Amino acid sequence: MTHIDIVRLQAEIDELALISENPPPVVTRVLFSDADVRARAFVKALCRDAGLSVREDAVGNLFARWEGADSQLAPAATGSHIDAIPNAGKYDGVVGVLGAIEAVRALRRRGFKPRRSIELIVFTAEEPTRFGIGCLGSRLLSGALSPEKAVALRDNEGRSLDELRVRAGLNGELASVAIKEPGRPRPVVFIELHIEQGPLLEREGLPIGIVEKIAGPSSYRIRLTGEGGHAGALLMPDRHDAGLAAAEIALAVERAALTSGSADTVGTTGVFRQEPNAVNSVPCAAMLEIDFRDTDLATRNAAWTRVEAAVREISARRGVQFEIEQINADEPAHCSPELVEAIVAVCADLGLPAKRMISRAYHDSLFMAQVCPTTMIFIPSRGGVSHRPDEYSSPEQIEKGIRVLAEILARYAG
Ligand code: GLV
Ligand code: MN
Ligand code: MN
Repeated sequence: MTHIDIVRLQAEIDELALISENPPPVVTRVLFSDADVRARAFVKALCRDAGLSVREDAVGNLFARWEGADSQLAPAATGSHIDAIPNAGKYDGVVGVLGAIEAVRALRRRGFKPRRSIELIVFTAEEPTRFGIGCLGSRLLSGALSPEKAVALRDNEGRSLDELRVRAGLNGELASVAIKEPGRPRPVVFIELHIEQGPLLEREGLPIGIVEKIAGPSSYRIRLTGEGGHAGALLMPDRHDAGLAAAEIALAVERAALTSGSADTVGTTGVFRQEPNAVNSVPCAAMLEIDFRDTDLATRNAAWTRVEAAVREISARRGVQFEIEQINADEPAHCSPELVEAIVAVCADLGLPAKRMISRAYHDSLFMAQVCPTTMIFIPSRGGVSHRPDEYSSPEQIEKGIRVLAEILARYAG
C-alpha cells in the first residue's frame, strides 16, 4: 500500500497558511500580493525538493513535472490553486496542490516509475478577488479567455494584469498560455483533488466524492438610477427610490432561483450598494452584483430571463432607469464518464466508499474539462464550511483523498 506521510503534509499545510496577508487563523492570499508571491516560492521549493522540474507560463500558472520514461506521451495532470479569498481558511485549493506533491513523493517511495509524465499544475488566481473573474489561469490555459480580454482586465485600483504580472517577474506573451492550440501539450487527463466545501460527504459519512458535473456560474451587475431627495420632505407618491427597486430585484433573484424547477439553480445578490447611503436621503442610485448558477444551462438561462423581466417591470413601475451588464457566464462542465468510472474502480480497490456528485462551487476543472478528460476527487469538509478561517478537513480525510489521487495518477502514468 502506498504510504502517505500525512504528518509532513499537515506541517506543510500549516506552514503555507502562515503565508497570508492577515494573521492566523485567517488566510488571505490575493493574486500577486506579497503573500501570493511568497506562497508561490514556497510551493516551487517543495516541488523541486520532490524532484519535479518547474516552469511557469506568462500568467504564472506553474507546471511541476515528474518526467516519464516516454517523454513523447501527454502527461497525466493534477492540480489546483493556492490563492485564497479575503478571510479564508487553509484547505481550499491547497489540499489539491500540496496533496499532489505528497502523492508524487508517495509514489516515488513505493518505487513507481512513470512511463507517462505526471504534471502538477498550480493555477493562477482561481479566486475572482483581484480582477472580478475567477479561474484566470485555467481560463487562459483553456482559451476560454482571450489574451486581448485578459490584457483589458483592471483591479479596483486600476492596475492591469500586465503591470502586476511583470512586477511579479512574469514576462512572456499571454497568447502563449493557451494549450488548446495544435502542437501545444495537452494532458491526457486532469484530476483535481479538492475539499467538498459542502456538507454532503460528512452527512453521509463518506470519505470520497467523485465529481460528474460542475455548475456553470454567471454573474451580472445591475445599475439603477432613480431620483434622490430629502427623506422628510419628498412625498411618498412622488418617489423614484433606486434602493427599493434594487431590493425588489434581489427578491426577484431569489424567487427565480427557487422556482426554476431545478434544485441546482442558485441565485445570490452578494453586492448591494446604494447612493448616497445617508439616513435622511432617498437613494438616488443603486448597484447590485448577482451570482447565478446551475448545472443545466437551459434552466439557468430560463430563470435569468425571468429576473430580467422582473427588472424591467420593477424599474418601469418605480420610474427608475436600469442597466444590466453581464460580468461573466460560463457553461457547466461535464466530467469524463470514463475517468469517473476509473476513480470509482480505484476507490473500490482501496476499500473507500465513494459517491458520484456534482460540484456547486466552480474550480479550475471547469476549464480543464474543455481541454482534456477531467474530473475531481472531493473529501469531506467539516460542517460543509468553506471560504472561512474555520474551514477544516482532518489529516485522515486528506490522506484518503491523496491515496485515491496517487493511485489514479499511477494508473494513467504507469
Ligand atoms: C469559487 O470559489 C466559487 O465561487 O465557486
Ligand atoms: Mn475558493
Ligand atoms: Mn478552490
